[in-house]
Amino acid sequence: MKKRIGILTGGGDCPGLNTVLDSIVKSLQSGYEIIGFYKGFEGLYSNSYIKLDSKLTNQFKFLGGTILKTVNQGHFSAKNKDGQNNTIDKEVLELAKKNYDDLGLEALVVLGGDGSLSAAYQLQEIGLNIVGIPKSIDNDVMGTDMTFGFLTAVQIAVEALDKLETTARSHERVMILEVMGRNAGWIGLHSGVAGGANVILIPEIGFDYQNILKAIQKRYKQGKTNTLIVVSEGATASGEVKSYSNIGGQSSEFLLGGIGDKIANFLNQNGLDARSTRLGHIQRGGSPQAMDRILSIQMGVYASILVEEQKYGQVVCYNSGEMFYRPINDCVSKLKLVDPKSELVLQAKKMGISFGDL
Ligand code: F6P
Repeated sequence: MKKRIGILTGGGDCPGLNTVLDSIVKSLQSGYEIIGFYKGFEGLYSNSYIKLDSKLTNQFKFLGGTILKTVNQGHFSAKNKDGQNNTIDKEVLELAKKNYDDLGLEALVVLGGDGSLSAAYQLQEIGLNIVGIPKSIDNDVMGTDMTFGFLTAVQIAVEALDKLETTARSHERVMILEVMGRNAGWIGLHSGVAGGANVILIPEIGFDYQNILKAIQKRYKQGKTNTLIVVSEGATASGEVKSYSNIGGQSSEFLLGGIGDKIANFLNQNGLDARSTRLGHIQRGGSPQAMDRILSIQMGVYASILVEEQKYGQVVCYNSGEMFYRPINDCVSKLKLVDPKSELVLQAKKMGISFGDL
C-alpha cells in the first residue's frame, strides 16, 4: 500500500506555490498518495482536503496564488498582532494531530512563511512528521538565502519603478513607491537598486525626513530634476512608530502601510512636487518569474527527497546556490532582516543612493 502524505499552503499567498505543489506531486506520486488540505492548517483542522495528482497540478503549475487556497488568520495563527510568536491552543493542535493520525499520514509538507512554519513547529512538537518549505515575498525566513515568491515580487516592483520613472521625468517630480515586506526591507532594497531608485528607505535603517529632503536638493544642484524613492511599508523615521493601515481587520498581524503618503506630504509641504503609489498585493499576484519557478521546483523536489529519506522536522533551505535543510526551530526563532552593513547596502550608498540616514 502507498504511504500517504499531506500538503498545505499557509499564510499570505505568493507566486510559486502551485509550482512547488506540482514538483512535489511529480516527484512523489509513484510511491505516495498525496492529499492537499484546503486553506492551510484550517483544512487539517476541519478535514477538508482533495487528492492531488499531476493531471491536476500540472495544469496550474505556473499560475499565481494557490489552488489549495490559504489563510493568514484563524485557529493556527502562530503570530500575534505585533508579530510575536503565539502558542496555539492545545485542543486545536490535538484535533489536528487526531485528523493527521486518522488519515494515516506519514508526513505533512508545509509551504509557509515564518508564521506557518512556527505553527508547523508546534505540530511537530506533538508528534507530526513535518517538512517545511519557506515561502514569502518578504524573504524574511531565517536560515535560507531566499524564499520563493521574493524574486517575482522584486520584479513586479522594478517594473512599477520603470513606469514611475518616465512620469517622474516628464513632470520633474518626486515619485515614491511603497512596497511590501512587513518588518524586512528585502523587497525595498532589491527593487530599489534594480529599479534605479535615488532614495531607498527600509525598516532596518531608521531615516530622517530632513535627510530625504537634502538628498533631493543635492540632486537638484546636480541638475537632476526628478527623484525616485522606494520605501518599504515597515520603514520608519528614527523615533517614529510604524505606519499601520486597515486597523481592526481580521488579519492575525497588524497590516502596515501609509509611510509613502507621509513622506509625500512632508516633501510637498517643503516645496517639492511629490506623489506616492502603494503597490500592495500586486506584488503577490500573477505567475512566478523564471528564477522563482526554478527555485520553487528545486525546493519541491528537495522536500520530496526529505520525505523519502524520512528526514522530518526540517525546513528546505537554499544557500549559495545549493539546497540543504535545517531544523524548523532554527528558521522560526527570529526573522531574517537586512544587515545595514551588508554589501548591497554599502554598494548602493557608494553609488550615491540615500537611505535617509546620513
Ligand atoms: O507577508 C507577506 C505580506 O504580503 C506582507 O508583505 C504584507 O505586509 C502582508 O503580507 C499583507 O497581508 P494580507 O494578505 O493580510 O493583506
